[in-house]
Amino acid sequence: MTAVNLQDDVALSSLARGLVGSEILKIAGEIRTLVERGRDICNLTVGDFAPKEFRIPYKLNDLIADALAAGETNYPPSDGVKELRQAVVRFYENALGLTYPIESTLIAGGARPVIFAAYAAVVDPGDRVIYPTPSWNNNHYTYLVGGKAVELVVGPETNFLPTAELLRPLVRDARLLCINSPLNPTGTVMSRDEVERIARLVVDENSRRRARDERPLFLLWDQIYWMLTFGESRHYAPAQLVPESTQYTILVDGISKAFAATGLRVGWSIAPPPITSRMRDILGHVGAWAPRPEQVAVAKFLGMAPEIESFHEHMIRELQLRLDLLYDGFESMRSEGLPVRAIAPQGAIYLSAQFQLAGRSNEEIRKLLLDEAGFAVVPFQAFGSKKEDGWFRLSAGAVSPADIEAGLRRVRETLLKVAR
Ligand SMILES: Cc1ncc(COP(=O)(O)O)c(C=O)c1O
Repeated sequence: MTAVNLQDDVALSSLARGLVGSEILKIAGEIRTLVERGRDICNLTVGDFAPKEFRIPYKLNDLIADALAAGETNYPPSDGVKELRQAVVRFYENALGLTYPIESTLIAGGARPVIFAAYAAVVDPGDRVIYPTPSWNNNHYTYLVGGKAVELVVGPETNFLPTAELLRPLVRDARLLCINSPLNPTGTVMSRDEVERIARLVVDENSRRRARDERPLFLLWDQIYWMLTFGESRHYAPAQLVPESTQYTILVDGISKAFAATGLRVGWSIAPPPITSRMRDILGHVGAWAPRPEQVAVAKFLGMAPEIESFHEHMIRELQLRLDLLYDGFESMRSEGLPVRAIAPQGAIYLSAQFQLAGRSNEEIRKLLLDEAGFAVVPFQAFGSKKEDGWFRLSAGAVSPADIEAGLRRVRETLLKVAR
């Protein structure tokens, strides 16, 4: 009997054949192998935390242990345990002044499942999906649902953020507009005015459509990093500034980044109830629920404002310390005439830096920094960018200040060699 050839792509569905895996995880895997072989590397690649640098809140840790001990180990309800859905509603009421019915909430195993469910719930094959590049994974989700990608290429002049003015010509036939702020990969934060203008744009476009009985435009608003802003930067959600936008918005959030809890897998969405219930049904077939003990624990933890505040005081200070070290390091190299610049950190766990080495592709620059300086970064290509313009994401959650200082010294020596 001849064996079926599973090596060959013909064995796969066309969806599986066409899918591009995570470029970030590929680079991260390469770095892990080098570290295992003993290389000293300042690893700024994964959008994650090293528990040695950033622990989850101790209180949350204890609450999870309590929930396990109490036998909270069976299936959770498919839209999430009621206490957590209620806690999310209360949390937004207190923190953002927003009021949502509990039916608008959906709990899942991190933000990824609710993002996928949002795409699957509103985008038909061929529907237009607008997103800025660089941005995180919208290209992959659009592919998965067969949407037609409408990429808005943004650059440093807008801090890599989309603006209402740039989006206005694109919204007319679109089904979904995807926005993330604070932004992965750039660490920049959308201004209050721009959030308001974009929310208004979505409402106006939908008023036009309602008059013609056309299907609505939805806003996928991913605010997974919203609790992590620095200095003067503040996060605003569209519903705070343009309440009518709520009926068109699918808001995505969770504990992964805000509480350094990427491995706990608790995320949620807030959307109009009829959308939420379909998203719940889509995810129900995948079983992408958040683990029950974590849900029970997070429900309690979200109500503990003083614990959350003191956790964030520490976390934000530590993140800002690392991002400022990187930013100041590059600025000082720039003032020496070396070909590098960065955007001052505003939020999330990232810094954008540009290595202006003319004649070298981003992949060549990445390799140079890795091989010569043990400095591991991710090019904006991993976020859908097609430009070979030397921009990279540096993620600060898995490194110590000492790792950064040593890495920067090696980068300086490398740039001195290649740029002079
Ligand atoms: C912008 C953005 N949204 C969502 C996610 C996914 O979060 P989770 O780990 O909760 O699935 C990430 C993770 O990197 C992200 O950067």
